[in-house]
Amino acid sequence: MDAGAILQKVKQKDPLTNGEARWFGHALSGADVSDAQAGAFAMAVCLNGLSPAARVALTEGMRDSGDVLQWDLPGPVLDKHSTGGVGDPVSLLLAPALAEVGAYVPMISGRGLGHTGGTLDKLEAIPGYVCDIGPQRLRHVVETVGCAIVGATGRVAPSDRRLYAIRDVTATVASVDLITASILSKKLAAGLDGLVLDVKTGSGAFMVDVEDAKHLAQSLVEVSSGAGCPTSALITDMSQPLSSSAGNAVEVVEVMKTLTAERSSDRLLDVSIALGGELLARMKLAESVEAGCSKIREAISSGGAAERFSKMVYAMGGPKDFSETWQCRLPEAPVLQEVFATETGYISAIDSRALGNVVVSLGGGRRLETDRIDPSVGLSQIARIGTKTDRKTPIAMIHATSEIRANQAAEQVRNAITISGKASEQPELIIGGIKP
Ligand code: URA
Repeated sequence: MDAGAILQKVKQKDPLTNGEARWFGHALSGADVSDAQAGAFAMAVCLNGLSPAARVALTEGMRDSGDVLQWDLPGPVLDKHSTGGVGDPVSLLLAPALAEVGAYVPMISGRGLGHTGGTLDKLEAIPGYVCDIGPQRLRHVVETVGCAIVGATGRVAPSDRRLYAIRDVTATVASVDLITASILSKKLAAGLDGLVLDVKTGSGAFMVDVEDAKHLAQSLVEVSSGAGCPTSALITDMSQPLSSSAGNAVEVVEVMKTLTAERSSDRLLDVSIALGGELLARMKLAESVEAGCSKIREAISSGGAAERFSKMVYAMGGPKDFSETWQCRLPEAPVLQEVFATETGYISAIDSRALGNVVVSLGGGRRLETDRIDPSVGLSQIARIGTKTDRKTPIAMIHATSEIRANQAAEQVRNAITISGKASEQPELIIGGIKP
């Protein structure tokens, strides 16, 4: 095959054959495609799109450019993927809950991107937790514990790593075809039997507009199912942070409180249960979505998921018995400062992207890939939409390294919150579902 001839076809909107799209997806990891050709391909796809079949084939080629795990386990191999948000640690709840109901979950996750938090950064707030383990160790942890949340090794979908870096500097990130192939080439390399997607929409999501989120969800479900992995998606609300904390250690605190029933963060719990129930029903591991939800709820309320999480933490290098000792294990910021509203009224909107950026500016996220993050900083007790405000009740708590940074963050938090005179309703949490 010839990269130049394939580029010519995409430029002219001639449909690629599956063989051509698959070849290109695979060849992106090697010398048969130059950087210039990869950039031209990204731009041509961005402008002209791919057919649904070529999208599947491109994804398969990219998936197969590196290691693809294979499993021989007594239960299904399942996973969940989120398109990213603020205050959203669902993976930390759902992976052990799925393991508790008999699935195996090799969850290859990412770090924070832009204003959104990253699952790996949250887990690394736990002292000793090492995300970057090799395939042998991943296999061992999944087999013995039931779930492992890890980073991608250099051998997972190398075509995506190269294309993503090129897209980043050629204004070609915002393409549904390319986002779909990028996300799924990495996810499907984990050798999954089933997948559920949490596609976020609202002020803290990459897809702010609900129609864009539905379009991406449809593409992800079609391609993943077309590549042989039964998949469904939920569109969920990100017009406010999902839990009342945003940051790394502070989100682990939310998770542990929810898993140990000390205090359940209801929106976090509800989305975790809805995604798990959807996946169990899709995989025929439950008779209906409601029955699937009951199984996940029970896995959490029984304490079983907390125990699994604790075992995973230990197996990944963290402390033993984390579910019992987490309160004294997590890093704490030296400065805690309450933020008060300047007006009396009701919270009518939250700029969640701005809150995510507050966490980044406190040091809890990265501006450059090489930045080191401080796991202790962030926001907690974030008030939700509809909350009545006055000048005496805090709307958030800032966890910072200094008073100066806390004061700056307080101003940014106030600016991110809109207060109006009229009480507004809670936004709907589960906006819709996409099945193939
Ligand atoms: N996440 C990815 O992994 N790839 C994209 O293209 C966008 C988000």
